[in-house]
Amino acid sequence: MERIDKLLALQLSISRKEAAALVRQGAVTAGGRQVKNAAEKVDPATVCVRGASIHYTPFLYLLLDKPAGVLTAARDKRAKTVFDCIDPHLLRRGVQPVGRLDKDTTGLLLLTDNGALAHRLLSPKCHVEKRYLARLASMPPADTPARFAKGLVLDDGPCLPAGFSLRETGEHPLCEITLHEGRFHQVKRMCAAVGAPVLSLRRVGFGPLSLPDLPSPAACRRLSSEEISALENLESVRKI
Ligand code: URA
Repeated sequence: MERIDKLLALQLSISRKEAAALVRQGAVTAGGRQVKNAAEKVDPATVCVRGASIHYTPFLYLLLDKPAGVLTAARDKRAKTVFDCIDPHLLRRGVQPVGRLDKDTTGLLLLTDNGALAHRLLSPKCHVEKRYLARLASMPPADTPARFAKGLVLDDGPCLPAGFSLRETGEHPLCEITLHEGRFHQVKRMCAAVGAPVLSLRRVGFGPLSLPDLPSPAACRRLSSEEISALENLESVRKI
């Protein structure tokens, strides 16, 4: 059971005052009965506003299309962080980023208040697939896909086998890189190791989640219920 004003504020991304106003207007029911008091405790699964279910979810999952120039870190006095890109009402749920992207990297960053799932997704045992598009400073050598597939050796040890394919050739080729681990600056270090440094980097896939190749105009959205169950039911996550 949860307090109705708190529940509505979190689920609908509104303030507690706005939630209390909905209750006063008689717009809220729980278990088919009108809620009269903003402090009333209700069963979240039965709550409707103006007759429509609020589709209660015990956890919040956000997919942020991270812009460049933003830190994946807690609040920072000088630099903008991913928390500055998210509606403050949603932040009250205590969402945290699942992994990190470099300041200049754009693209898919999952945030959630489901700490247990985040922990499993980040576990080195889990090997969640991460897909990147990298614009390179020069053409990579022809044996790059084979070297990535074998497992490049970096200064902190061998990498797991990774995918590499060219999407566009030219002076600054575009390639798609698929990793199953998340080491510090890994894509940049792997590309530098084959002699083709990264000019810009965008993450477009994380497990079953994906973003368009180009930055999305709607920068932050909630995951759909299909995306949430795909994430929770990832074979590798279930095994941990
Ligand atoms: N690899 C990198 O080098 N940077 C990122 O932000 C993500 C993966």
